[in-house]
Amino acid sequence: MILAMDTPMAPPSDDKRWKIVEATIRRNGAADHSLIEVLHTVQQAFGYLDDPSLKFVASQLRLPLAKVYGVATFYHFFQLKPQGEHTCVVCMGTACYIKGANKLMAMAKQKHDLEDGGTTPDGKVSLLTARCLGSCSLAPAVVYDGDVAGRVEEDQMHARFEEWKK
Ligand code: FES
Repeated sequence: MILAMDTPMAPPSDDKRWKIVEATIRRNGAADHSLIEVLHTVQQAFGYLDDPSLKFVASQLRLPLAKVYGVATFYHFFQLKPQGEHTCVVCMGTACYIKGANKLMAMAKQKHDLEDGGTTPDGKVSLLTARCLGSCSLAPAVVYDGDVAGRVEEDQMHARFEEWKK
């Protein structure tokens, strides 16, 4: 039998997006039925679910980690962290969309043949989207390997991908 962890863990980092996730947990309560809602919130804020976030959710909801992994891998709408060496998450929330996030996605497709959820054939770069990173004043916002960058332009993102591909 797999036991749930006793003491809830702290968030995996001091990234303020965890505050959004913690608010969802508080609102829904640490219960079984909250799991899908909380996983959705993590994905919308970060673009994907990775090991530290799944462990955090399991601990906060006092659920066995195996159950959380099971749900995250069963439903096709959950995106697990892709295999690329580097990860770029483009925010497609309203503020970022208005400020040109779609142009960033178009550049990724045109110049790197990358679409949402895709990884370059050399395994260097994975591209994902999120709904709102909570940094709307920086729109369009992008997260490069966990670091939020603001007012990103196509050339900058292209240069970053080229650097990662070296
Ligand atoms: S809409 Fe992109 S950070 Fe909020």
